[in-house]
Amino acid sequence: MSDVAQKSPEPILEVRGLVKHFPLTRGILIRRGIGAVQAVDGVSFDLRPGETLGIVGESGCGKSTVARLLMNLERPTVGSILYKGEDISRLSGRALKAVRRNIQMVFQDPYTSLNPRMTVGDIVGEPFDIHPEAAPKKDRRRKVQELLDVVGLNPEYVNRYPHQFSGGQRQRIGIARGLALNPEIIVADEPVSALDVSVQAQVINLMERLQQEFGLAYMFIAHDLSIVRHISDRVAVMYLGRIVETGTDQEIYEHATHPYTQALLSAVPVPDPELSRSRERIILVGDVPSPADPPSGCRFRTRCWKAQALCAEVDPPLAVPAEFAAATGPVRHASACHFAEDKGQLVSG
Ligand SMILES: Nc1ncnc2c1ncn2[C@@H]1O[C@H](COP(=O)(O)OP(=O)(O)OP(=O)(O)O)[C@@H](O)[C@H]1O
Ligand code: SF4
Ligand SMILES: [Mg+2]
Repeated sequence: MSDVAQKSPEPILEVRGLVKHFPLTRGILIRRGIGAVQAVDGVSFDLRPGETLGIVGESGCGKSTVARLLMNLERPTVGSILYKGEDISRLSGRALKAVRRNIQMVFQDPYTSLNPRMTVGDIVGEPFDIHPEAAPKKDRRRKVQELLDVVGLNPEYVNRYPHQFSGGQRQRIGIARGLALNPEIIVADEPVSALDVSVQAQVINLMERLQQEFGLAYMFIAHDLSIVRHISDRVAVMYLGRIVETGTDQEIYEHATHPYTQALLSAVPVPDPELSRSRERIILVGDVPSPADPPSGCRFRTRCWKAQALCAEVDPPLAVPAEFAAATGPVRHASACHFAEDKGQLVSG
């Protein structure tokens, strides 16, 4: 976390009750609605200046849809996204363009997200075409070269093409493009998932350094809890369109109370042989249910080894569970489970 985050507790982004349902239709001539994919179904969180919120969860749980909603690439079915107190989720035209400058995205796949026919200089400078006020034409080349330097690439490479770079270098190009307009927020959707493990750490270290330097707030999406740990101040765990547990790094990694988070953590390999022997291994069985027809009550109940009748009837709210309401330590954090329980440390610190 940068110093800015510690000094400024006011959220820069407040997401409230975000819902995105994609209608399902049947028929060619006459299209009939036959339901909806509940990709995101009531997600709320805050993001403060300079902090990193990690979002994790299995494939299809709605992470990218949340990212696309924040970027205004999709409109929410219900809910609001407040940027500095103003709902930006239904803006259009010039007002939208002005806000977009401050929220930029870094994509998962550096191989497909960079146009192979554009030079690196054109790619990194592309945001200036959309926002010419950000850099006068005569300054652009210098600005692009500065951006390349900031992300650790040789500024002389400005005329090269993406195929002349490695995966890690390409992701640096994507990050440089994301920084061009000097944004306050970067939404990074699986920014290192397509990279080799050794390169992942370099890109994450770079993102941390840039966060300190520019006071950036990150929403960092990954499907793997071990990847987000290093960079995140807070983590939100998603399952079937909902956040099921959220808390600080310590709360989630050392005192997870939701069975789904515990299962994800217990699948993370640990180098410590003692912890590896002593920790409980939880193997998740079954597939994720269809988001077009989620289970009643707790959405995780069809895969949860602790499920009871109550779980099918009552949807557990995302709140501090009653059994931990009086606790003062890190076990006291929001977890959407009727039978929340602290299983202690499941991964190395
Ligand atoms: N445009 C769309 N139309 C219909 N369904 C969609 C659309 N976009 C996403 N979905 C569905 O919404 C659900 C959530 O998708 P999303 O891409 O947000 O998941 P994700 O968590 O990012 O997954 P992954 O880890 O695989 O990237 C999935 O079931 C997906 O098939
Ligand atoms: S509410 Fe029930 S089904 Fe859901 S996670 Fe908790 S114990 Fe499992
Ligand atoms: Mg995704």
